[in-house]
Amino acid sequence: MKSNIRIYIISALILLLTTLIFGLLATWAFLFPEVYNKFLPFYQLRPFHVSAALFWIITGATASILFYKKETFANGKNSSALLETGFMVIWLTTIAAIFICYGLKMFGGREYWEFPPILCLPLLISWILLMFSFYVPLFKSTGKKPMYIWMWATGILFFLITFVEQNLWQISWFRASYLKEITVQWKSNGAMVGAWNQMIYGTSLYLMVKISGDENIAKGKTAFFFYMLGLTNLMFNWGHHIYNVPTAAWIRDTSYIISMTEWVFLIRMIQSFKKTLEQRAKLRHLLTYRFIIAAEFWVFMNLLLTLSISVPAINLYTHGTHITVAHAMGATIGINTMILLASFTYILKIDDLKGRVSRFLSFSYWLSQFSLSCFWIALIVAGLIKGYRTVESCKLNFQEIMEPVLRVMKVFSYAGVFLVISIASIVIVYLYNAIKLKEFQTQIEI
Ligand code: HEM
Repeated sequence: MKSNIRIYIISALILLLTTLIFGLLATWAFLFPEVYNKFLPFYQLRPFHVSAALFWIITGATASILFYKKETFANGKNSSALLETGFMVIWLTTIAAIFICYGLKMFGGREYWEFPPILCLPLLISWILLMFSFYVPLFKSTGKKPMYIWMWATGILFFLITFVEQNLWQISWFRASYLKEITVQWKSNGAMVGAWNQMIYGTSLYLMVKISGDENIAKGKTAFFFYMLGLTNLMFNWGHHIYNVPTAAWIRDTSYIISMTEWVFLIRMIQSFKKTLEQRAKLRHLLTYRFIIAAEFWVFMNLLLTLSISVPAINLYTHGTHITVAHAMGATIGINTMILLASFTYILKIDDLKGRVSRFLSFSYWLSQFSLSCFWIALIVAGLIKGYRTVESCKLNFQEIMEPVLRVMKVFSYAGVFLVISIASIVIVYLYNAIKLKEFQTQIEI
């Protein structure tokens, strides 16, 4: 029982490695179908990659919360260790079962969750165990709670709600109408992103408080206002996920405006953290700090992208192209993964590493930012070319449309190789620290 959280953190890092490897393989399968179709076709690799990505994000977020829980409101004790163990065992075993199903070409779910739907049941059970392990000590604890605890609590609850909503298609009434089913699917997928963002942004707020030593960032009226803004986002920002189904224009417009405010919220939080941060505190947690700043940069870039693609004249060209993928990966790699890496840097005390390892991590960090930028820009360019040729060159067939797109996708795949090398290098150092280093033992064990 003692080193459960250590195993859980290691599993999250392995999921990140899996995401990277399957992402690269999926890219090659897309570019060279004649080779890959024989053994690992794109339709099999995409669910592998996307599910690994989602599970990396959710596992990374819950690992951080379970780790920080002990020192925030559980008074250094772990009264719910059995429930936590139950959650981790069922959650990780089900993920393994999901990958086995994908390997055996057993599909059956819906977008992003394409495994046989029966496996949603153990996921649901494990989540309920997590909820008990989180809320029971929370309700027993006294005193005013900082905003990050509210955010974690909200994210965990809303993940349950959106997960159930996402599985409503299993009731035949929802499947009776294609439009009804797809609307609920896309809506719940969008809302689920809001739920894990609450968990992850809460974690980044916690880190900012810890690094700067300034509790005020997470307390007071402004903090509460921004929490409410985040909550509004969680409940209503899914609108831009259902642009393509016939909905009232006011629903689209309102939810679009709301979804932009969530990012403004994160930028505002990081900016006020940067203002209060002393140089010494920054240097003591340099890599953690850098990952948080990287997330801020990617929030800004994604904000620019989404603001542009929502202009109807631009959307006409970009819709359903690689720009949508740029938006999804820009957010999940640039924002979610960067914050989770900041969290793992802090948990595993990576900032204490000196000399060659520290320089190697610093180099890998910059390489990851540079290659992610090329990767992301290549997707946008590929999307623009495809959109333009589809709309403007009506006489071209699909192959002709795709010819220049595939050339740009090759640049994407080269950038992807460097992205994989750089993030995987960071993950391997973290894995080594999580497995080997004795001095982290007391820190990690619960
Ligand atoms: C932390 C790392 C990563 C995360 C979190 C991530 C996340 C995602 C997500 C959420 C999607 C679904 C996008 C959509 O449906 O629009 C996706 C698709 C994809 N990703 Fe990644 N990704 C990562 C790294 C990579 C890397 C390194 C590569 C390639 C070298 C890659 C290649 C792809 C490809 C080819 C698709 C499918 C695009 C399509 O269907 O058109 N990913 N990824």
